[in-house]
Amino acid sequence: MNRTIVGIDVGTTKICTLVADVHESGRVNILGVGLTPSKGLDKGVVVNIDEAVSAISTSVEKAERLSGYRIGTAYVGVAGRHISSLNSRGVVAISRPDHEITRTDVGRAVEAAQAIAIPTQREVIHVIPRAYIVDGHEGIRDPVGMAGYRLEVETHIVTGEVMAIQNLIKSVQRAGVEIDDLVLQPLASGEAVLTPEDKDRGVVLVDIGGGTTDIAIFIQGGIWHTVVLPVGGNHFTNDLVYILHTPHNTAEYLKLKYGSAIAVPPENEEEDLIDADTFSPGERQQVSRYLLNQILQARAEQIIELVAAEIRRSGYEGLLPAGVVLTGGTSQLPGLEDLAREMLGMPVRIGAPADLSGLAEAIDSPPYATSVGLVRWGLRHGLTAVSQGGRDGSGWRHVYDRFKMWMREFLP
Ligand SMILES: Nc1ncnc2c1ncn2[C@@H]1O[C@H](COP(=O)(O)OP(=O)(O)OP(=O)(O)O)[C@@H](O)[C@H]1O
Ligand SMILES: [Mg+2]
Repeated sequence: MNRTIVGIDVGTTKICTLVADVHESGRVNILGVGLTPSKGLDKGVVVNIDEAVSAISTSVEKAERLSGYRIGTAYVGVAGRHISSLNSRGVVAISRPDHEITRTDVGRAVEAAQAIAIPTQREVIHVIPRAYIVDGHEGIRDPVGMAGYRLEVETHIVTGEVMAIQNLIKSVQRAGVEIDDLVLQPLASGEAVLTPEDKDRGVVLVDIGGGTTDIAIFIQGGIWHTVVLPVGGNHFTNDLVYILHTPHNTAEYLKLKYGSAIAVPPENEEEDLIDADTFSPGERQQVSRYLLNQILQARAEQIIELVAAEIRRSGYEGLLPAGVVLTGGTSQLPGLEDLAREMLGMPVRIGAPADLSGLAEAIDSPPYATSVGLVRWGLRHGLTAVSQGGRDGSGWRHVYDRFKMWMREFLP
């Protein structure tokens, strides 16, 4: 089965719309790409709706032109420090006289897991069942058809601030697109760069983008921990701006061309010096490459330390034999993989979207993990084919209803 699905990654530095035919096997045939620099976002959150709408519209129109496909609805990534997550357990008694567990029982258990106090300014983005317990027997992935008296479900619940979510939804809708579902960005990225074996064995997905570092921990095939840290590639660039006294564009250029997360002292001073702009037009300066990389290394170490602290805080430190998979634009910084391996004492690799065809050029690289993951997520969790969707304008309620339906249908 093939379905046409649209994903919009509203990132801090770029917006990427993908129109893709997704095959059951996970193979993604890219029909259209709309890439544009992001505007109106700060650390993963919409801070200026007009600017965000204009950037999203540009990205959507580009993808429509390339694919010849009119985009009605899309899966949209959500991130930002307002995101928080927790694990919650739901318990129900099995109602049928023969005690056979049905989908309805599973739905009731998942609903029971949601009976937690969520502050009024927050709303639920995901309720993801990850394992079931039948009469005390743990680790059951699909309880439907089993017999039992008592069904428990362990869920991972992701919530975000209502206002931040509404501003994202508004921006996408004002760009003329209805939302199929909001997907937490690291969960989308995980769909693109992790294998089922990684998730079964235990793995940490770390998407280091421009404005945020998104973390998701998968164990026994399910999601156990998620967090969004408000730090990313822009911080590396800003450090260079402040310390080297060089304009932002130059700092970004220096980072991409000469940057490394491991600073190595130069063999001779001349080789070490790079010619660069200053803030005064026409005035040049000599920048030390070693100093440049010391600045980048300090920031890289800080981010890796934050990741290590988050792994410890999750309490799942000992359950992650598949190690860490780095993705997102900043994972491409030379040396980062080695530095992370050394600091974390775990296996570390860079993950990029694979199994792509069509207009796949460049999309098979780490910055596009979220976009590719969104369309894969759409196939795995979606109910309605996008090709049947439309601009029905029913807004968030429509998303929410669909989400509730999905929950009832959902089995891991
Ligand atoms: N080769 C490279 N070396 C270092 N940094 C890089 C490299 N390539 C890209 N980056 C950085 O990656 C960042 C952009 O990554 P990405 O496209 O994943 O971010 P985003 O999705 O827009 O942001 P976010 O996910 O944080 O909202 C920028 O800060 C950019 O400088
Ligand atoms: Mg991103």
